[in-house]
Amino acid sequence: MRIVLVGPPGAGKGTQAAFLAKNLSIPHISTGDLFRANISQGTDLGKQAKAYMDAGNLVPDEVTIGMAEDRLDQADAADGFLLDGFPRNEQQARALDAYLARHGIALDGVLDLEVPEDEVVKRIAGRRICRNDSAHVFHVENQKPAVEGVCDICGGELYRRDDDAPDKVRNRLEVYHRETEPIIDYYRKQDLVVTISALGPVAEVTRRAMAALRAGS
Ligand code: AP5
Ligand code: ZN
Repeated sequence: MRIVLVGPPGAGKGTQAAFLAKNLSIPHISTGDLFRANISQGTDLGKQAKAYMDAGNLVPDEVTIGMAEDRLDQADAADGFLLDGFPRNEQQARALDAYLARHGIALDGVLDLEVPEDEVVKRIAGRRICRNDSAHVFHVENQKPAVEGVCDICGGELYRRDDDAPDKVRNRLEVYHRETEPIIDYYRKQDLVVTISALGPVAEVTRRAMAALRAGS
């Protein structure tokens, strides 16, 4: 399956993507995780992205689209993928459509996670991620690690993302409404969007998502 996951910051895209990718045996491709890995490795790409991410703004398309396409090439896009955090504006959505058309493939669905804003603010406030891999995501109340401050998956140190500070979150939400929400309409016109509520326990949201993807494909 070839799927795009959309939803506001803190909706649980990364959390759900990990389970969905495993259930569907497809790679989870998160542009946010790719940028964070580049930043921690000190690459040129990481240096270009850091200031934008720290401010909660989008990294320019010239940098982002090339990185996403390289990752899709590596994954062999025809075999399926779950994109999380890409595309994030209409320009990126058009670039993805062009990429897929060049490879003679198409999306199977766009899964839209719906969560009220007060809930995403709570989720982000309690989020802790792993120094070794930002895809290892926890929450101080909702998804507690067995040992406080320690990643259950790899034993790494858990910390709060720099862009999770409240003023950055406000900007990220504004950017989401202004830049990213319009792509939901863009994909609606292609009849690809399935919207689910992302409220409730993580496993329940995964079940809902799997059912919606199966029904929609
Ligand atoms: P990115 O990393 O993609 O951040 P985001 O979209 O803001 O999403 P988040 O990672 O904040 O949230 P999430 O929805 O994955 O939620 P999570 O699963 O962690 O992007 C970061 C930055 O990179 C951007 O601001 C931009 O600068 C740049 N960037 C990335 N892609 C780009 C692109 N395409 N173009 C340009 N720039 C780009 O869950 C949140 C918390 O809630 C966790 O603590 C989790 O444990 C908890 N939780 C999850 N599910 C539940 C549940 N069901 N109930 C209770 N708690 C839950
Ligand atoms: Zn870890």
